[in-house]
Amino acid sequence: MSTTVLRDIGTLVTNDPALGEGPLGIRRDAAVVFDGAHVVWIGDDAAAPPADTAVELGGRAVLPGFVETHSHLVFAGDRAEEFAARMTGQPYGAGGIRTTIATTRAATDAQLAANVERLLAESLRAGSTTVEIKSGYGQAVEDEWRSVRIAGRYTDEVTLLAAHVPPPEYAGRADDYVAMVCAEMIPRCAPAARWIDVFCEQGAFDRDQAHAVLSAGIAHGLVPRVHGNQLHQGPGVQLAVELGAASVDHVVHVNRADIDALAGGDTVATLLPGADFCTRNRYPDARALLDAGVTVALGADCNPGTSYTTNLPFCIALAVRELRMTPDEAVWAATAGGAKALRRTDVGHLSPGARADAIALDAPSHVHLAYRPGVPLISHVWRGGAPAATN
Ligand code: NIG
Ligand code: FE
Repeated sequence: MSTTVLRDIGTLVTNDPALGEGPLGIRRDAAVVFDGAHVVWIGDDAAAPPADTAVELGGRAVLPGFVETHSHLVFAGDRAEEFAARMTGQPYGAGGIRTTIATTRAATDAQLAANVERLLAESLRAGSTTVEIKSGYGQAVEDEWRSVRIAGRYTDEVTLLAAHVPPPEYAGRADDYVAMVCAEMIPRCAPAARWIDVFCEQGAFDRDQAHAVLSAGIAHGLVPRVHGNQLHQGPGVQLAVELGAASVDHVVHVNRADIDALAGGDTVATLLPGADFCTRNRYPDARALLDAGVTVALGADCNPGTSYTTNLPFCIALAVRELRMTPDEAVWAATAGGAKALRRTDVGHLSPGARADAIALDAPSHVHLAYRPGVPLISHVWRGGAPAATN
């Protein structure tokens, strides 16, 4: 197996407090050694051991690769017109999802796979080295089955978003749709997925329906995650905590009881400010969540309706400017926080034994991700120890 040493790192974010300062475990003038797909050594540049390949980073910052916990990449078509209408004042409602259900059902497997590949390449250039992918634009047994199978070609983190919105043939019959999901869709699709997700929201699925879908998923070995409290205060957060979901995502319209429930449970709150930006929704109160001790992750939520971006640096900039997270909190949330939301211990940090997933910036510190919004700062990406993309 070949070794690589990253030399002359200005600021190294390890996310391991045992290796450096603060929760981000920051070291200056550092070096990192990869052996094959794993990190084997972290230390001072002056003490770096020799390796087969040396990469001189000239004082750049190095961070763990971003862990993207929330993306909807298996779809066809776009909704640029819906976006333009929204920017003239039309509200966002869950119904737009049906537009993408129609185009996705009509697409070939090859077209759907090409769309996933295009967006994953974009995401990798923006520094995401682990990406969760949801289904959710089929909303019929065979259409969801092909979506999870296509997603599974590219990631181990496949989510069956079985109940996104009732499809047209179930209009006004959400209970019947949920019964079909539990009896037919979940048994068919569960072998190809790790996670079960539901959109618990007005216009999508209510508490009882969401509970039924998540419980059926759990019975088939899937672990729950929830789209909750995106557009209105509702039962999503409480349901997620009650069922021990790995994550509840959006978490915009929450009350004190929701925050307390998150603080007392194991469910990560995944904030998706790109969706709030593109829907002109309110932003989540990240300060209230963090100050209560809730574990917070950040995701880009790439989808054609609410957040057509794969760019976590953009979301970090939003999180700092609009959600009042500190740059350190936002960077942690997009790396270690994402790993927690996916219950992964091998990614989201750089310490011996971790996967060698890392990025370097054309900047001396991670703070520049928020300080220089919109600038493509990522100069190097390593995934499993190999150079993956360079701008
Ligand atoms: O994460 N909230 C529901 N799902 C997506 C939106 C999907 C769409 O509008 O196509 C989201 O925002
Ligand atoms: Fe989503």
